[in-house]
Amino acid sequence: MAQMLAARGYADIVLIDIVDGLPQGKALDIAEGGPWLRFSSTLTGSNDWADTAGSDLVVVTSGVPRRPGMTREDLLGTNAKIVRDVVGKAAAHSPDATLVIFANPMDAMCHVALEASGFPAERVIGQGGMLDTGRFRTFIAMETGTSVKDVSAWVLGGHTEATMVPVTSNASVGGVPLSRLLPPDRVRAVAERARRGGAEIVELLKTGSAFVAPAAATIEMVDSILLDERRILPCCVRLNGEYGVNGAYVGAPIRLGAGGAQAVYEIPLSDEELEGMRKAGDAVKELVAATPRE
Ligand code: 2OP
Repeated sequence: MAQMLAARGYADIVLIDIVDGLPQGKALDIAEGGPWLRFSSTLTGSNDWADTAGSDLVVVTSGVPRRPGMTREDLLGTNAKIVRDVVGKAAAHSPDATLVIFANPMDAMCHVALEASGFPAERVIGQGGMLDTGRFRTFIAMETGTSVKDVSAWVLGGHTEATMVPVTSNASVGGVPLSRLLPPDRVRAVAERARRGGAEIVELLKTGSAFVAPAAATIEMVDSILLDERRILPCCVRLNGEYGVNGAYVGAPIRLGAGGAQAVYEIPLSDEELEGMRKAGDAVKELVAATPRE
């Protein structure tokens, strides 16, 4: 993420980690690529949150990743503790920042971050729908033999296999409905592959999970917030009745710009997809109830 953001050239970046030397080394390594990658962004590595003071945006990547056989939900206890600690420190030093939450299980971690920061909900946004949408679009392009550039498709709902909602009802390629390009069983197969997109990478890598696609998806969000691009993107936000979900963090189309989530949109969904949104809301509420408080 830091490398991708540095290449954009508009932001000063601070990398924070508890391991002495790690963020300093990473920051220096990325900065030293600048002459050849042609950027001159300022990168600082630190173990001290004071160095992040006054940040406009904080991406919370802290937490342990999955190992093969684990679900994102299995990380709940360990990562809740880490996210609570990190968000508390980030918020204390940057009270006006927008938080982008990345740690898993992401939907539940948004609730932890909301509570730990005391920020308004529009400034605490989760990254998951963007990554899953990137995967869904990639698989649709592969399956239809078309360019990913022309694929328009969204994954809403939760960022778990059980709660993701790959929206097939309005997916299209260059305006051609997906249902005209693929038979129903192939449409179901690409949706299923998107659901298992994270696990597919974990199974292949064996140690750790995906890096590049999550980073690209997150930095697209960072651009929209910091440059106030007001893009409409699938992100995890606290819904207030939209899609029949109240008070739970679920992925939905939002207008993302300065100050975070500026608007939430309800788009037409099939009955099955709508039911998926409600289930995602119920599932995250259950996870929140099961999250250790300390
Ligand atoms: C993924 O789906 C890490 O949750 C992330 O790859």
